[in-house]
Amino acid sequence: MKLVTIIGARPQIIKAAALSRAIRNHYADQIQEVIVHTGQHYDDNMSQVFFDELQIPRPDYNLHVGSASHGVQTARMTEGIEALLIKEQPDFIVLYGDTNSTLAGAIAAAKIHVPIVHIEAGLRSFNKSMPEEINRIVCDHCSTLLFTPTKAGLENLKREGFPMDNDGPFTIDNPKVYHCGDIMYDNSLHFADIAEEKTDIIQRLGLAEKPFILATIHRDSNTDQPERLSAIFKALIKLSKECQVVLPLHPRTEKLIKTNLNEDLQKQIFSCTNIKLLPPVSFLEMVALERHAQLVMTDSGGVQKEAYFFKKPGIILRPETEWLEIVETGNAILADADESRIMQAWQHFKDNPPTAFPEIFGDGHAAEFMLEQMLLTNTRK
Ligand code: UD1
Ligand code: UDP
Repeated sequence: MKLVTIIGARPQIIKAAALSRAIRNHYADQIQEVIVHTGQHYDDNMSQVFFDELQIPRPDYNLHVGSASHGVQTARMTEGIEALLIKEQPDFIVLYGDTNSTLAGAIAAAKIHVPIVHIEAGLRSFNKSMPEEINRIVCDHCSTLLFTPTKAGLENLKREGFPMDNDGPFTIDNPKVYHCGDIMYDNSLHFADIAEEKTDIIQRLGLAEKPFILATIHRDSNTDQPERLSAIFKALIKLSKECQVVLPLHPRTEKLIKTNLNEDLQKQIFSCTNIKLLPPVSFLEMVALERHAQLVMTDSGGVQKEAYFFKKPGIILRPETEWLEIVETGNAILADADESRIMQAWQHFKDNPPTAFPEIFGDGHAAEFMLEQMLLTNTRK
């Protein structure tokens, strides 16, 4: 079986590590994987670092699309992916999540009848002002095999009319939905101890003795709106009076701090010794930070979940989340970009540190399950 895997943005490169590892360890004689990097993320610390650290095979192709508006970026990727699909003639194209790289892969493949495998299917924010919501809906509705990591994802697909008890052969018109674990959980389990051995970020930053909050911010709805970005940073400054804050900055955020925050706020942030601003960190460093943090504050989809995997309370800097379960179990609070709600959530978790994190993301072997299903349903075998 031949797979073409599309990656482009940081979280996709990380997710792809789990599938490539499972192919290498269990299916090397049955599955050939051709990796296509769209070039959506290109800085070394947003891309190359993950290949070096997570033993992901070097991409067979890089489309080098870089940054651009949604339309331009997606069009460049679609053109490049289409040409490669025609050349490679894979049995399936594998798409992760909800980025513009996902959307481009879905459009290119569906139109020339290459069956799509969507990993992380069914997630919905019910907020179509998010570019990701458009991307994931299009991708799901063009897919042949849909792997949903959560019950909420399964329910969303049911509601949108996907059949649940259908028999093969599976096609774009008779798609198959599987509820399985989360491929990101596979990675977190796999790399947790490796991260402890191979990184020294906790010692290097002097974080071993004093508690700290780990924060990430990159969602366009936060970075691109000055009042929202300001509210988040005002809350971080308040929090830093009680607890250290570690904030690896996405390049988008680094750029927009300078244009969207007033000079006074910028000065306060850059001079605050209790806020450690870092360039994007590697995945192993991120895992170490997540394991040692007291609490995680984020607008990232992946980081929300990783906080849960490592049994840390989360403050979600968004009005809604696709990962309903982590809020429903009481382990994360939706605080939006609202200074007082962020402070209330912090106080809540200080008074009531969560203790129960039910296993809702599978058993750490989602990748193997997905590959088994692809092998079973591959009609060209
Ligand atoms: C993208 C995804 C988002 C995902 C995030 C993961 C879309 C629509 N959004 O958002 O769903 O959560 O990746 O991190 O696909 N930049 C650099 N260097 C890089 C990459 C980006 O400087 O290596 C800067 C550029 O100024 C660029 C901006 O970041 O314009 C945004 O990058 P882009 O890939 O368009 O979107 P993200 O915000 O990263
Ligand atoms: N991550 C990382 N370094 C960082 C920030 C995040 O390795 O400096 C990892 C994080 O552990 C998770 C993934 O990147 O696995 C999440 O990506 P991101 O927050 O960029 O996007 P999202 O998940 O929101 O799409």
